[in-house]
Amino acid sequence: MLSQLVYVSNRRPTCTSEEIEKILASCKKNNPPLNITGVLLYSDTKFIQLVEGDAIVLTALYDKIKLDARHNSPMMLSYGPIKERSFPSWHMGSKKMAANDVDFKTDISAEDKTVFNNLLNGVEADGQRILNILKKFF
Ligand SMILES: Cc1cc2nc3c(=O)[nH]c(=O)nc-3n(C[C@H](O)[C@H](O)[C@H](O)COP(=O)(O)O)c2cc1C
Repeated sequence: MLSQLVYVSNRRPTCTSEEIEKILASCKKNNPPLNITGVLLYSDTKFIQLVEGDAIVLTALYDKIKLDARHNSPMMLSYGPIKERSFPSWHMGSKKMAANDVDFKTDISAEDKTVFNNLLNGVEADGQRILNILKKFF
C-alpha cells in the first residue's frame, strides 16, 4: 500500500557536508529501484525527511535510517496511506535550510511559520499541514 512518512531528527555535529553528500548519494543509488520518493531538508542541527513508497519498503528503509549515526532522536511526525505521491519526481529532493531564518520559495504566513517551527520541534502532527509547508520548499 502506497504510504508516506515524515520524521524530524537531530543532525549530529559529526555529520559534515561531505556526509550529507554521501547520504544523498545513497538516496540516488537506492531509492529509484525501491520506488521511494520524497524530500530531505537539513539545517546545521536538524533533518526533516518525507519519504513515500510501498509501506513495507518504507518501514524497512525507515528502520535503517533510524540507526544511522549521522543523526539521532528521530521522531516520526506522520505516517499513513496516501492516494498519490506528493513528490513523484524526486527520488530525494534536498534543500539546506537556515537554522532560524527559513528560506521559503514563496512567502509564508505567520501561521505557516508557527507550523514549521512546531515541525522542527517535533510537535506538529497534522500530516496535511506538514505537507503544505514542505511543498513550499520545492
Ligand atoms: C537523515 C538521513 C536520511 C537518509 N535517507 C536515506 C534514503 O532516503 N535512502 C537511503 O537509501 N538511505 C538514506 N539514508 C542513509 C541510510 O541511513 C544508509 O546509510 C544508506 O542507505 C546505506 O546504503 P548504501 O551503503 O547502499 O549507500 C539516510 C540517512 C540519514 C542520516
